[in-house]
Parts: sequence; C-alpha cells; structure tokens
Amino acid sequence: MPKYKIAWLPGDGVGHDVMEAARIVLDRIGLNAEYIHGDIGWEFWRTEGDPLPERTKELLRKTDCALFGAITSKPKDEAARELVPELQGEGYVYVSPIVRLRQEFDLHTNLRPCKAYPGNPLNYRDDVDLVIFRENTEGLYVGLEWHPVPEGLWSAISAAHEKAARFAGTPRDEMAISVRLMTKFGCERIIRAAFEYAANKGYPTVTVVEKPNVLRETGGLMVRTAREAAADYPGVELWETNIDAMCMWLIKNPQDYGVLVAENMFGDIISDEAAQLVGGLGFACSGNIGDEYAVFEPTHGSAPKYAGQYKVNPTAMLLATRMMLDWLGETDAAAALESAVAGVIADGKVRTYDMGGDSSTLDVAEAVAERL
Ligand code: IPM
Ligand code: MG
Repeated sequence: MPKYKIAWLPGDGVGHDVMEAARIVLDRIGLNAEYIHGDIGWEFWRTEGDPLPERTKELLRKTDCALFGAITSKPKDEAARELVPELQGEGYVYVSPIVRLRQEFDLHTNLRPCKAYPGNPLNYRDDVDLVIFRENTEGLYVGLEWHPVPEGLWSAISAAHEKAARFAGTPRDEMAISVRLMTKFGCERIIRAAFEYAANKGYPTVTVVEKPNVLRETGGLMVRTAREAAADYPGVELWETNIDAMCMWLIKNPQDYGVLVAENMFGDIISDEAAQLVGGLGFACSGNIGDEYAVFEPTHGSAPKYAGQYKVNPTAMLLATRMMLDWLGETDAAAALESAVAGVIADGKVRTYDMGGDSSTLDVAEAVAERL
C-alpha cells in the first residue's frame, strides 16, 4: 500500500510539460505514493461545459493532496465561444477551475514564497526573500457579480447607501457590479497564518497590504484584524502598506520585506510582481492550503503557445513539488529537493530559454534528479 494518494492534475497547455518534470524528480526521490490522474482544464470546459468535472472533485476527496500543472483561463464570453457546438447557448458560464477548487475545498491559504536563488541571472536583486500569504476564498474573487444589475439588488443598494443616487439614471445593463466580500473570520485566518509562519521561520515583519484609506470597510476590517492579531506575536512587527505603495516599494526596496499578507485580488497582483523579482513566473510556486487538503501548483499559467514543446522552466513546478513534500511531512525530501533545485540554478549549466539557455524542461528535471 502506498503511503500517499496524490491527485495528479496536469490541466492543459504547458501543465503537462512541467508535471512530467515533477514526476521525474518524485520518482528519483522514491516517494511512496500513488499518483492518480484527474481531468481538469480547458478541454473539459469545451467538451463538457465544466472544466472541473464532478469526477475530479470526487478524486480530490479520496486523495491526500493534489499536484496541479496549469490551466487556461479566459473571460466568460470568449470562453463561451469555444464550447463545442452542442453546448453553445445552453447557459454554461466559465469560472476558473483553480478559483473554484480554492473555494469549494476551502483552501484558504495561498502560500507564495519568492526567493532569489544565488546565481540566477534573472534575479532583480540577490537578497529578495518574500513570502506572500494571499487569502484564497473571499475578497474580490468571491464571485458575487452581476451584469445587468437586477432591479431588486439595485433598489436594495439605493435604499442602503446614498452614494447609489449618482447612478440612478444609468440603465441596469450598462452597469456591472462585483462585490468585495471579506469576513472577520477570513481575514483573521490568513493573518494568523502569516504571523505563525513569520514567527516560526524567523521573519521580523508581516506587512498587511491593503487600501483602507479608500476601501474603508473591507480594507479597514483587514487592517484592524491585523493589529489585533499582531498583539499575540510580540517578536514580529506589523507593517501596514497600501497596495499601490507596495507595488512601488517592491521595486524600490524589496529586500526590506519578509512576509506579506493580502486579500485575494491584492495578493494576486503582488504575487506576479514578487515573482518577477526572483526571475519571473518560472520560479514562483504556490500552495493552496486548507485544514485538511492542499493543492500545489506553479504560479504561472498554461502558456498555450509553448504547450508540448518542453521549453518552459519547470523550476516553479519543482518548487511546488517541494512545498507538497513539506506539507506531507516529508521534510528531509523537501529540503533535499530545494537544495538540488538551487544547485542546478547556481551551477548554470542546464538552463531553459528564459535563463538564456537551450535546455529543455525535462533536461532541467533530470539535472535536479541527478543531484538528489
Ligand atoms: C493565480 C492566477 C489565477 C488567479 C487565475 C489563473 C484565475 O492568476 O493563481 O495567481 O487569478 O488566482
Ligand atoms: Mg495570478
């Protein structure tokens, strides 16, 4: 009996390429696991009208955790045009399956470390070591959206807030609403996760990234909650920074920051910026972590134009694999994998195109495996 059951979700685009790389490394480590393939991604949207079929959710319920490659994600109208003819006009609405996984499985903590590995020619600076805690289930991603805006909703909003009067003359189909819903529970859960991590790993600061001067209620709730939680962690200083200023400071002085905590959308934005500081999305991994289940993925998308070419950098995927090992409690294997990845980067002989080399995705995986 294998010790672990791992849902294997390549998704689409370069997801397949990088998952193959992950498998080379896992086989080398000899993890005692069964990897069970799950259908997810664009293909299943087009042909079944559901990029996250029920059978795949069933698989997740039966496994310990999942490793996930990448998925194509498109705005709703564009997505609808790509459905097979039989499904056109049947009311199918595309929602990103990774966002659904995070919400439906309550994978509340999106952990995104961005560390500059020595010798990476793409490092913006060599002393960057950021860890983003992105709230993964609510905020602006909550999915409460309307277009056109229903009459009943508009009258409730008008009755509740005088600011609605300004839009009284706007036709309901010429306005759209997306709700940014945050709960005290959700804010506290992500903020405490960030502080716990900072305290355990020796980061001196947690920066809460918000915009409470404008988003007074949701931003205010997040910052107030951060101040309350900070009182329980005397060894970690709380910094409060507005999202716009954060984007600037990450370019000006990224080395000054450690753990960052943010609402879903703001966390999404700073993740890509932070990734670029350490070499780009090819180096950024992401853990979607709940109380009982977790899904590990590279932060990058599916890059369809490179699909099947084994061209993209698998480092992000390998670092996601490392996070999975850590989460499973396989901490020695996790540490070995990280140092093997760091070794290949520092050595500089096996590099994908983004790093100026001509090695393939699988060459990099083999080079990492050789060091294990
Ligand atoms: C990410 C991605 C996703 C997100 C997309 C693919 C829906 O950008 O994981 O950061 O917005 O969360
Ligand atoms: Mg993103």
